Amino acid sequence: MDSSADTGRVSTAILTAAVLLGFAVLQISRQFFDPHSSLDAIPSFGIPSYPFGFYVGSWNFIRNGRAILKQGYLKYRGQPFKVALANQWLVLLSGQRLIEDVRKADDSLSFADAAKVMFQTEYTIGYEQLHDPFQMNVIRTALTRNIAACFPVIREEIAAAFKDLIPAKDEWICVPAMKTILPIVTRVSNRVFIGLLCRDPDYIKLTTQYTLNVSSNAQWLHVTPSFLRPLAARLFGHLEPATRAAMKHLRPILQHRIAMDDKYGPDWPEGDRPNDMISWLLDEARGHPTRRTVRRLTRTLLNINFAASHTTTHGILHALYTLAANLECVQPLREELESVVAAEGWTKQAMDQLVKMDSFLKESSQTAPTGAIGSVRMATKDFSFSDGTMVPAGTLLAVPVFAEHHDEVNYSNAEVFDPFRFSRMREQDGEENKHQMVTPTLEYLSFGLGRHACPGRFFAVNEQKLILSHIIMTYDFKLRDGVDEWIAVLIKANTTAQLMFRKRR
Ligand code: HEM
Ligand SMILES: *[C@@H]1O[C@H](CO)[C@@H](O)[C@H](O)[C@H]1NC(C)=O
Ligand SMILES: *[C@@H]1O[C@H](CO)[C@@H](O)[C@H](O)[C@H]1NC(C)=O
Ligand SMILES: *[C@@H]1O[C@H](CO)[C@@H](O)[C@H](O)[C@H]1NC(C)=O
Repeated sequence: MDSSADTGRVSTAILTAAVLLGFAVLQISRQFFDPHSSLDAIPSFGIPSYPFGFYVGSWNFIRNGRAILKQGYLKYRGQPFKVALANQWLVLLSGQRLIEDVRKADDSLSFADAAKVMFQTEYTIGYEQLHDPFQMNVIRTALTRNIAACFPVIREEIAAAFKDLIPAKDEWICVPAMKTILPIVTRVSNRVFIGLLCRDPDYIKLTTQYTLNVSSNAQWLHVTPSFLRPLAARLFGHLEPATRAAMKHLRPILQHRIAMDDKYGPDWPEGDRPNDMISWLLDEARGHPTRRTVRRLTRTLLNINFAASHTTTHGILHALYTLAANLECVQPLREELESVVAAEGWTKQAMDQLVKMDSFLKESSQTAPTGAIGSVRMATKDFSFSDGTMVPAGTLLAVPVFAEHHDEVNYSNAEVFDPFRFSRMREQDGEENKHQMVTPTLEYLSFGLGRHACPGRFFAVNEQKLILSHIIMTYDFKLRDGVDEWIAVLIKANTTAQLMFRKRR
């Protein structure tokens, strides 16, 4: 008998027992003291009314969240309603008025506090990342400003990655979509983050696993009673092993860059300081010794990858499935691309002029935002909405993005994929620069809302456009038989679907 497997099983049993005990204690204490009793005025949805109904509702929500949100949305559109999460309520806010309240209330509705609950960030991405996320400003400013300058290397990396993973042949070849596009996207982004080390398959595998581990660890930590979390995270958590594994790859390069930065600052003698994320992070870390360690920079890079790779991959995959299901869109996209590139070359300015492609990608992200809910926030103090609804400090709030995006109120034929919906709008006088994918509005929520709207969205949109451009210029492609158009409304990009490619004819 393998004794380590035995120990594992015993630990799991103890943890499970602890979780159940925690639930029971919570349920009993609720009878005497319910911190959220002031949420009583907000109608709940999907909760059976018998004793312990909250937990049944919570279980249903885990399995069936998207459908429950959609039904709740249709019943209460424009008014708040609440659903059961594992051990607390989630209040959903829909309609322009309430969404605008969320956008404006950045101080009293906190993104970080919500992430602490939803993603258990203290244990899954690290305490210091939670309290000093200095990469945020770097992504918002330095990364965004340098997209044009980095354009040639991004393009080079895209070409190299596709050549390695999807050779352009005269016959059709079949590739597993997720397994192929995820490493490509991660490699391309990391070219800008850490340079040529992005080509190391071990490093790529590690960063993509890290993202999945953050999510899965968050799920089980969320239902673990809070007093057990530090211990459980230390025993079973991914953060420490992942950091050590990533440091193996990153230590030599980070040590070198920190040493050079200590010696020369931003002005290296030959002027050959790399223009990449490591340099920008070091710029932001100047005068902050705790940010300038190999360990801290490693974690920061892991967490940038957490925010960047799966999100962007999901977007590309979904766009490809949608394009494969609407092959008549390929021709107009190719024509636009060829004429813009003939005039502008392969530059960021060219990407800005791809109005049809922008519309296509936006419509695609609109029909499949990365989750059924978005813009999750936590009230840091008692908060009242403009319709008079009150929520106490500690309430978790979110916008039902998927339901909102599929509502006819703002989108005619919301359920029908209309690739050039937004480029048609931009043909009107005075509308030329509106309706763009990078611009969040109260009805387009794929990148979130307000001050916390995704700071990486300019990078993400340019990267997506360049990857899609490379694909339509290089290949013909289609979905393998049997995968059909209905994929286009799935919330998660199909992870097992196969795509077929051949050299463009
Ligand atoms: C298509 C790809 C992407 C999508 C759909 C996406 C979506 C989002 C969304 C919905 C949020 C939360 C906003 C809110 O709650 O209001 C967010 C936050 C964030 N995203 Fe993205 N994102 C993408 C790509 C990226 C990339 C490439 C980066 C980095 C290079 C990035 C970095 C971040 C960061 C750091 C935050 C946290 C913002 C904060 O705490 O204020 N994202 N993203
Ligand atoms: C992710 O979790 C898996 C399964 O527990 C583990 O084998 C792997 O090493 C972890 N990787 C990272 C980078 O967190
Ligand atoms: C969306 O719908 C709301 C409510 O009917 C309306 O006030 C708003 O102007 C619409 N926005 C767009 C872009 O159509
Ligand atoms: C994803 O695609 C595979 C392969 O064609 C198919 O068998 C499967 O049903 C699809 N999964 C979902 C959830 O649509």
